[in-house]
Amino acid sequence: MPLSTFIYSGYPTGMNLEIAGNVQGFKQQDGILTIKTAEAEARVYIYSPTIIRVSISKNFNPDDPSFAVIRQPLADFDFDESSANIDITTPALKLSIQKSPLRFNFFTAAGSSLSEDDARFGTNWQGERVTCYRRLFEGEQFIGLGEKTGNLDRRSAAYVNWNTDAPNHTPESDPLYKTFPFFIGLHSGLTYGLFLDNTHKSYFDFGASTDEETSWFGADGGDLNYYFFGAQGVAKIIEDYTGLTGRMEMPPLWSLGYQQCRWSYMSADEVLNIAQTFRKKQIPADVMYCDIDYMDDFKIFTWNKKTFPKPKQMLDKLKAMDFRLVTIVDPGIKVEEGYKEYDEGIEQDYFAKYPDGENYTGYVWPGRCHFPDFFRGEVREWWGAAFTALTQPGVEGFWNDMNEPAAWGQNIPWIVKFGDKFMPEVRNAYGMQMARATYDGTRKIMGNKRPFVLTRAAYSGTQRYSAVWTGDNTGTDAHMLLGQRLVNSLGITGMSFIGVDIGGFSGNPTPELMVRWNSLGAYTPMFRNHAIQGSKMREPWEWGKNNEQTIKKDIEQRYKLLPYLYSSFYQSTQTGLPVSRTLAIEHSFDGNVFDERFQNEFMFGDAMLVAPVESTKLTEDVYLPRGSWYRLSSDKFYEGEQIVNVQAPLTDLPVFVKAGGIIPMQSVVQSTNEKGDGILQVHVWNGREANSFIYYEDDGVSYDYEQGIYYKRVISFNPIEKSLSLSSVEGSSKSRFMQLKFVLHGFDGVKLQEEIIENKSGEIEVKL
Ligand code: GLC
Repeated sequence: MPLSTFIYSGYPTGMNLEIAGNVQGFKQQDGILTIKTAEAEARVYIYSPTIIRVSISKNFNPDDPSFAVIRQPLADFDFDESSANIDITTPALKLSIQKSPLRFNFFTAAGSSLSEDDARFGTNWQGERVTCYRRLFEGEQFIGLGEKTGNLDRRSAAYVNWNTDAPNHTPESDPLYKTFPFFIGLHSGLTYGLFLDNTHKSYFDFGASTDEETSWFGADGGDLNYYFFGAQGVAKIIEDYTGLTGRMEMPPLWSLGYQQCRWSYMSADEVLNIAQTFRKKQIPADVMYCDIDYMDDFKIFTWNKKTFPKPKQMLDKLKAMDFRLVTIVDPGIKVEEGYKEYDEGIEQDYFAKYPDGENYTGYVWPGRCHFPDFFRGEVREWWGAAFTALTQPGVEGFWNDMNEPAAWGQNIPWIVKFGDKFMPEVRNAYGMQMARATYDGTRKIMGNKRPFVLTRAAYSGTQRYSAVWTGDNTGTDAHMLLGQRLVNSLGITGMSFIGVDIGGFSGNPTPELMVRWNSLGAYTPMFRNHAIQGSKMREPWEWGKNNEQTIKKDIEQRYKLLPYLYSSFYQSTQTGLPVSRTLAIEHSFDGNVFDERFQNEFMFGDAMLVAPVESTKLTEDVYLPRGSWYRLSSDKFYEGEQIVNVQAPLTDLPVFVKAGGIIPMQSVVQSTNEKGDGILQVHVWNGREANSFIYYEDDGVSYDYEQGIYYKRVISFNPIEKSLSLSSVEGSSKSRFMQLKFVLHGFDGVKLQEEIIENKSGEIEVKL
């Protein structure tokens, strides 16, 4: 008898092992195919021709919500039953459900195997812990899981999801702050994705210790509830995954500018002084931050009366200098009678509790704290409404920290309840629910203005509410490179708006590293400098005159790129494709992309390839994938599919533009509030293939774009007809740019080299 038909109960160690056995019956109703075995029930749903959900449970709870998924399954679907299988076929995918024993095997429509249960162990339980063993294909590679250390290719590694406050983490530490239980498998020239929607502590093993036989994933409890993505092409899978879990909305334009942060800007005067220095030195910047020191005794939604006595006055002055302010909020509410949020929370019963009804108390910055139960709608409303204390003086950005949740000792008891769940069941979604409460609340208060929300802890779907940063890194080259891998990996899991603490949160970076990291920051979706209290000051002018000039140039480069960057964010809102993209998205079967020497490289939007380089190296081997490329700083031409050794001085990070690349740029401005010279520069690099770019603009601050008040047109380059064209404008907004200037790179013998024309809204075509 095959092993898999046994039910191992009363195992000598005391731990039961139950493996899903033979199908005893099935039925279809309301779009759900339900299959029963002696051990469990499986439910199958179809969300689209490329998305099938399988949920297997010993004990379904009908009220279990998904925090991540925002789509509904399709109605009933057809299936074929034979003596051995139940087969569900969509135009793109075939799920073959083997009956004896129950196993789930996915194929392309043409019959190639994408992913299969391990024939022996399939889905199984040890007590409440559920795991699914799957066949490991020869040469199979894995990408994804969001904020995970290690290599781009996750093969032969194992990971845990358990949102954790991880100060002093290393480039190997796991877990960190966020949970994105979604990965993409690559083998035999085929792609598939799998999202385990389960907020318990979860596990992914890509053949770390299984003799190359199996990969497996599972969770400490809950259902084995996964969405299988069968689209061919990583970008299409990301599009499907973000279609299912939502996409980011347009960020406020100012949040794409340079952001200056530090833990220990101790007074309003200091904040204003730093802002003034940016303006005086003409180093562009948009955002100042207040870390925990702006508060009275670290009480959330208060201001320190001595050091920040007149918040509105400070904010008015910042505004007059075209600066926005972001303030931090932590979930811990100080236990102190007479403090509004504490009193209200107690009175309305809004805090997480022990099962006997007592409020849970943990220690964080303010000392003894209670923690809002963000899993309840009324608590989220209350939290959201409290932001008036920050929005009234004029704060527009809200930094959600310590929301894993963190409490000193980092061991919140398992019996603490959030909503109707115990901590271990939903811990991984706490930060996301805090970000949701912050986003919903501030969006309501701010009316038509876009809030900027930033969170440290997150779960799949957080992109709908917030940007993220990768927590407390360290000022070393290894952390700079790790940070880029984290950004690239988070991009696979739907998070496009990401930053890292540039310079490293703890430690003191060398001047060289600070310069290098800022040059990479210009190509990071969120460009924020941040540092721990007690570290040396980090602002751009703290590194000597020469370095200041280099950092200034890098920040200027960021501002020049804003039209391209804003359009790239628009693309994220439409397709889920991240702004920073690992090369594995487009070149999924090119082995060099996974080579440890090149795995940190990424595309910044459609056209630019960036190669991060350690600050100690002044030349670097760069892998250029398929296509041909130009060095951005010199227009030097390179054929692709080769490793090139290039100069990489601190003043010139290796950045390449794809042949045919279209990059709209603007003149240098000191903040996103400034108009600049009113000319949109359309840069085009010569290439053999036609290319197009969706250019997008709106007012950058409001939700008017939802009413069609935006400006969008397709910019196309046609090398055969030797033309550049702009489609007529879609949307009812005017452009910020009165004129267009075409700037050509790598074109020899064409008439037009540089020309300025009026930015008319009808179709525009120029011959080269
Ligand atoms: C946490 C955050 C860090 C912040 C500090 C003080 O360590 O990760 O960014 O500066 O708390 O609020």
